Formats: sequence, C-alpha cells, structure tokens
Amino acid sequence: MRGMDPRTALTAALRLHLEWGADEALAEAPIDHLAAPPALPPAASPASPASPAVARLAVSASGTLPPPAARAASLAAACHSLDALRAALAAFDGCGLSETATHLVFNDGNPDSGLMLIGEAPGAEEDRIGKPFVGPSGQLLDRMLASIGLDRDHYLITNLIPWRPPGNRSPTDAEVLLCLPFLHRQIALVRPRLLLLLGGLAAKALLGGGAGITRLRGTWREIAIPGLDARLPALATYHPAYLLRSPGAKRAAWADLISLRRRLDTAER
Ligand code: URA
Repeated sequence: MRGMDPRTALTAALRLHLEWGADEALAEAPIDHLAAPPALPPAASPASPASPAVARLAVSASGTLPPPAARAASLAAACHSLDALRAALAAFDGCGLSETATHLVFNDGNPDSGLMLIGEAPGAEEDRIGKPFVGPSGQLLDRMLASIGLDRDHYLITNLIPWRPPGNRSPTDAEVLLCLPFLHRQIALVRPRLLLLLGGLAAKALLGGGAGITRLRGTWREIAIPGLDARLPALATYHPAYLLRSPGAKRAAWADLISLRRRLDTAER
C-alpha cells in the first residue's frame, strides 16, 4: 500500500470513526474493507469536458472568449512549469478576487505523487497563510486522508479558485471561467494518475453536466483535460466543509475514501 505506515493509518482510521460516531463494534469478527478489492471499476462514464458555467460563459455573442478569460487561457498555455504557472497567476490582474485576497493560494503537497485533490476556494486561514486546506475543513480532510494512509507527501492539493472570495461567498460563474484555464494547465503540468474532486463546485467545473454533488459523487469518471492525451480518472466526493455541518453525509464520504484507496492500490499493481 502506497502511503504512511499501516499502523499509523489504522490508528487514524479508528480516530476518525470515533469522531464520526462509530464507537461500537457491530460484528463479531473484524471486516477489512480494504482487503478484497472488487473487480476493476466499471468503465467510467465519460464526462463532458466543460462545465455548464464554461459552456454558458465561454463564448460571447461574437463567438470568442471574453477578453480576461482569453488572456487567462493564453497565459496559462504559455507556462511550462508549476513555478511559471504560479508566477503567471500572481501577475494576472484579470480576476477581481486577487485584489481582495491577502495571498495567492496555489497548491501544497507532492506534485510527483500521482494523486491530485481539487477543492473550491481558499477560506480565511488559507488566505492568511497562503496554503490550501489549512483551516477547519482542511484539518478534517487531513484526518480523513490519514485514515486511508495518506498525508501531503502522497498527494498534491489545490483549488479551483486560487484567491479567497470575500466573506467566503461562492465564486461566480465568471470567476470559475477565469480560473479554469490555470487549473487545467496545473493538472496538465502535474500529470496525476487520479483526481479527487472535493465538493460540488470543483465537480461541476471538471465533470460538467448539471447534476449536483449528491449525484456526481462516488462514481469514477474519465475526464478530458486540455494538454493531456489520455483521459484522467476522477472521483467526486463531498467537500469537508459540508461534512462538518452534515454528519449524515459522512457514511458516503467514507465509502468514497475506500474507493480512492482501492483505486490507488489497483493503480500500483
Ligand atoms: N475550502 C476549499 O475548498 N479550499 C481550501 O483551501 C479551504 C477550504
């Protein structure tokens, strides 16, 4: 198993189950949910390449991208390293969010790990520190991933939007459209083997279609990323901020974690 020491992971899994209210044994014998991976996941349904937001906003009446979005796309396409992409984002003045944010929040973790996680947008703590997922939802995410043996050495984590929207409001469709070329480029430069999409906004932006996260989560789908020849397997799951306020969703989130762990193990063989 790729990941942290199995005993550390097991302790983290027990802690997470306790935190989530599973504090009693229900079966006589232990069940190892990771032990017997099922046959390879069914052929994933191809996802449409662009989000409804992008479809709606991408093409203006004249059939061209609106100017800042076109500039974002050409700036991103010209970057051939993560450092260059970070610098291009830092210099990009086409998105008003960069004016109210304290820091650009680019990514954290290991770009060579093969696994990339994509969230929504930085919150207050992330904006203060300049790193994704360091606030309360990030800490829950860390505990969830530790329960399947993963820490930030084992994945790269980033967001759809690299600047904090004021007051943590939801990013607008126009902001998503502006930032998407940079995210696509980041994925193309990192070339992960698997993507985990955290929450409805990241799922819709990358999987497309009009469905919400409850419909999108839990099924592996193959997505096309500009600049990559092969489609990438992506799994959407609930955002940890949603799990903090919706205990009932934790069962499904746990199933998604198991699915991710199995897929990582399968990909290793
Ligand atoms: N929520 C996100 O989607 N991303 C972060 O970085 C923090 C909270």
